[in-house]
Amino acid sequence: MPGPYADKEIVLGITGSIAAYKACELASRLVEGGATVRAVLTGAAQEFVGAASLEGITGNPAITSMFGQATNPEIEHIAVARWADLFLLAPASANLIAKAAQGIADDWLTTSLLATRAPLLFAPAMNMHMYAHPATQANIATLTERGAHFVGPDSGALACGDVGPGRLIDPAAILERVRVLLNPVHPLAGKRVLITSGANHEPVDPVRFIGNRSSGKMGRALALEALRQGAEVTVVTGPHEAPLPRDAQSIHVETAAEMLEAVEARWNDTDIFIAAAAVADYRVDRPMAEKHKRDGSVLTLTLVPNPDIARHVGLKKRADQISVGFAAETHDAVRNATDKLSRKNFDLVVANEVGVAESGFGTDTNKAWLVAPGMEAEELPLMTKDALAVRIFARILTAVTASPDPSPVHGASR
Ligand SMILES: Cc1cc2nc3c(=O)[nH]c(=O)nc-3n(C[C@H](O)[C@H](O)[C@H](O)COP(=O)(O)O)c2cc1C
Repeated sequence: MPGPYADKEIVLGITGSIAAYKACELASRLVEGGATVRAVLTGAAQEFVGAASLEGITGNPAITSMFGQATNPEIEHIAVARWADLFLLAPASANLIAKAAQGIADDWLTTSLLATRAPLLFAPAMNMHMYAHPATQANIATLTERGAHFVGPDSGALACGDVGPGRLIDPAAILERVRVLLNPVHPLAGKRVLITSGANHEPVDPVRFIGNRSSGKMGRALALEALRQGAEVTVVTGPHEAPLPRDAQSIHVETAAEMLEAVEARWNDTDIFIAAAAVADYRVDRPMAEKHKRDGSVLTLTLVPNPDIARHVGLKKRADQISVGFAAETHDAVRNATDKLSRKNFDLVVANEVGVAESGFGTDTNKAWLVAPGMEAEELPLMTKDALAVRIFARILTAVTASPDPSPVHGASR
């Protein structure tokens, strides 16, 4: 299965920051995802992390100086600047950002930044006062105006003991942005995608709830793919363990009723709706106002049905809206999915097997069938949730292309 960075060539520029060791994880994840990575270490970076580590991880010679190596045509700065699909500067020091903003070219990395036409993605890492300094902020503004991209920094405890913005953002967030930047086609540009994700927690009393095992991993994968394709993404999420993409708008809810309210509020502005949350079918009739004390007696809870979110919005669906549902089934996945298609007015149902190893709740992989009206169910092999999201959006794109003219509400976005 090709990874998210398959056939991409990435220059990973590493600067003199305490966070330089995290570049090893980034390099490793990029290589795992199919990228060819060329690490470049500034002189200061080499005080923090060894070129040999990066060479081992990337399988390519690391670039550590301007002279000497430049005799090797393969890593001559102009050649690499042409070859790269992306320059990722992580961690990016205040010094590198300043030099890039001013067009200074006094080492291999800064010279290549001038020579390349590839997108630049900076992940800054520095002390909070260095980050907040007007000089740094002006440099970031200059680079942003010229089209460079920034991800992070995060706020939190810094190595110097200060607490504030300046910490290198989580590598996962950097990689999310890399994925988006590496895909120059945006077939879903202007489309608004609404995804429900995660579990629901239905309260029993103020400290207990009835929940389910949904991790939100499928919702996260779908949101990432929608972003990669240029859509504007909103995720209405119940409790979940998988982090949500930072570039998506997230709305946090607990119960199915709250989820319905959040979806309904956005329904008219939605082009593509994907119901990936494991919505609680039932809630406790009357949650207790105070914590229930154990007294040894049998406790009986009355459960009442929750609103069916997908069915609810399915009834209002306009001809220009596309909706996709999931059917998590322990048996008869395709038959149940076909039934759901018409009952909930879905354009596509992803039937997935739960209760088997490596598929369903909490796993990183899924075994699924794609079921659409008037077509034979397509059985997919066991694949990662990321790969499944790509397949789902491939189907959605076919439907988007075939969908009727926009309603007046969405005229501008199509
Ligand atoms: C222990 C230590 C940690 C440092 N961490 C950072 C940092 O996180 N961010 C930063 O901008 N500079 C940091 N510096 C300062 C840079 O290494 C210094 O500005 C250097 O000139 C950056 O060079 P470069 O941008 O060519 O890598 C640190 C210095 C030391 C000694």
